[in-house]
Amino acid sequence: MTEERENRRTIRSFVRRAGRLTPSQERALSELWPLYGIEHSDTALDFAEHFGRDAPRTLEIGFGNGETLVEQARLQPDHDFIGIEVHEPGVGHCLLGIHEAGIQNLRLMSFDAIEVLRQQIPESSLRRINLYFPDPWPKKRHHKRRIVAPAFLDLCARALQPGGTLHIATDWDNYAEHIEAALAQAPDFVLQEHSRHDGDQPLDRPRTKFERRGLLRGHKINDWIFTASK
Ligand SMILES: C[S@@+](CC[C@H](N)C(=O)[O-])C[C@H]1O[C@@H](n2cnc3c(N)ncnc32)[C@H](O)[C@@H]1O
Repeated sequence: MTEERENRRTIRSFVRRAGRLTPSQERALSELWPLYGIEHSDTALDFAEHFGRDAPRTLEIGFGNGETLVEQARLQPDHDFIGIEVHEPGVGHCLLGIHEAGIQNLRLMSFDAIEVLRQQIPESSLRRINLYFPDPWPKKRHHKRRIVAPAFLDLCARALQPGGTLHIATDWDNYAEHIEAALAQAPDFVLQEHSRHDGDQPLDRPRTKFERRGLLRGHKINDWIFTASK
């Protein structure tokens, strides 16, 4: 990645919302985080150490309340999953989901995904990256906050194994256009599949909370799978 691209990306894709934690989320953060959480640091992760094995890995960025992530991890016990989310109540909710599902193949991180990708995810270490319903930042003056941007796509391409896949979904038409334009310019990705639907033809994923919200508003859903071509 060029220094110029890296420097352009100083604006965050999220605003920390002061969400209230329920008592059970609070308990999960103190009792379950030590079991399933990975602390942020500026050194590369050793996934085999965290999972106690070497398996294909999927990263989900901005997992929200984590219900989709827990479901995918439950359905694929032979794969390992890493979820990144900055919203604390969502992390607490997901920890409870992991505990209830009794799964061992999911770990969570609570930090800016851009920094995690840059500092902690080793090169060519992931089979798949999921970005489901990223914050749309619909106002024009906020478009610069959208996570899908050249520097982010460079970081994803670096983290993916050759032939690995980037899965994106959105319910905002204007963001869909932005995503298609950004990916058309991304040198390391080729489009594998696209589906525009009413919540009935997602590409290899369960329905998410924000997808349900978008459908209630009458939004169309766009799903894409892009393959890392390097
Ligand atoms: C619109 S929500 C979608 C949540 C979930 N994927 C769903 O479909 O229900 C987007 C989520 O991404 C998280 N997020 C945005 N930028 C992030 C970043 N740079 N690092 C980690 N999480 C981020 C937000 O906190 C928010 O919970």
